[in-house]
Amino acid sequence: MPERILITGGAGFIGRWVVKAFLGEPRTKVYVLDDFSNGVRENLAEFSKDPKLAEVKKCGVENKRAVDDFVSKVKPTLCVHLAAQIIVQDSIDDPERTFESDVRGAFNVLEACRAAGARFAFMSTCMVYDLATPKGAISESHPVLPRSPYAAAKLAGEQLTISYYHAYGMPVTVMRPFNTYGPHQKATGEGGVIAIFISKQLDGSDFNIYGTGRQTRDFLYVEDCAEFVMRASMSKAAEGRVLNAAAGDDITVNGLARLVTSEAPKRSKSKIKHVKHIHPQSEIMKLLGDAREAERVLGWKPKVPLAEGIARTRAWISETKVSGSGGWL
Ligand SMILES: NC(=O)c1ccc[n+]([C@@H]2O[C@H](COP(=O)([O-])OP(=O)(O)OC[C@H]3O[C@@H](n4cnc5c(N)ncnc54)[C@H](O)[C@@H]3O)[C@@H](O)[C@H]2O)c1
Repeated sequence: MPERILITGGAGFIGRWVVKAFLGEPRTKVYVLDDFSNGVRENLAEFSKDPKLAEVKKCGVENKRAVDDFVSKVKPTLCVHLAAQIIVQDSIDDPERTFESDVRGAFNVLEACRAAGARFAFMSTCMVYDLATPKGAISESHPVLPRSPYAAAKLAGEQLTISYYHAYGMPVTVMRPFNTYGPHQKATGEGGVIAIFISKQLDGSDFNIYGTGRQTRDFLYVEDCAEFVMRASMSKAAEGRVLNAAAGDDITVNGLARLVTSEAPKRSKSKIKHVKHIHPQSEIMKLLGDAREAERVLGWKPKVPLAEGIARTRAWISETKVSGSGGWL
């Protein structure tokens, strides 16, 4: 019997790489459920002729009846739940939308998967950790403290997921990636700082860095993230566990800006400017992940160094700028 993999949020940035990773596995059929609120069909265009991509369904996870109908039809053996409203500021402006999508939606998918007897992998985030006073690398035992409805919704989804492991013996895993970057990430909004810097560098426009630029981030290349998601969601050893995914190496935002400009094939006209922070009190000064548990449990380690990941991202952004495709920039 083939494995039937349901990927919610599969038309998004990380989702399309997770779809690609599962399509590369033998004997899989992949089903995508996405409301296209942030994802686009173009992200899946490369696989449109692949018979292993069985169906792409437009559906919001907050719609319980539609989720039930789709899951009971597909009968997935595994569900990777990536669908979420991901913008922290949007969650602060409209917490109800985040609750409906990220909490009720996670509950709906979890319940439907319980009824179908499917494994379930929940995509959380490093934003659930208490990031105010970080001292070193953050492991899974670091205290949690949600500072936004987005982080709170992710914690709620995590807790529901883990409760199904204990209450029903359902095979589940919770995944907490750190900042992920790479081709197909939008060069707008929060989080996509590498895509934003590369896009600005290609246009010759200036980089605006909030505050001193001495804040650090740990960047994970998206194909490494997708490989982690695939292994974590299929692993028996990962059942009932929470696992970080991170490069395990941080860089200041100033350092990142220098790296993006210095590695550019042509001399960059972009200048680095420091601008006043909008919310200086909420800035995270150090963000470094400890993913040794994922290495121990899954044998997973990120492979793509930051400079290489930036080069691959630049190649993709340059191509979409030339072809005008994607509508990402
Ligand atoms: N990008 C990162 O750095 C990062 C880091 C940690 C965790 N994550 C998590 O990884 C997942 C994927 O993030 P991404 O960066 O690819 O974002 P994304 O917005 O590109 O992907 C999310 C996808 O979910 C879809 N979606 C949103 N709300 C939905 C709903 N209610 N019903 C159905 N589909 C819905 C969107 O259309 C989109 O295709 C999210 O759960 C996010 O919280 C991302």
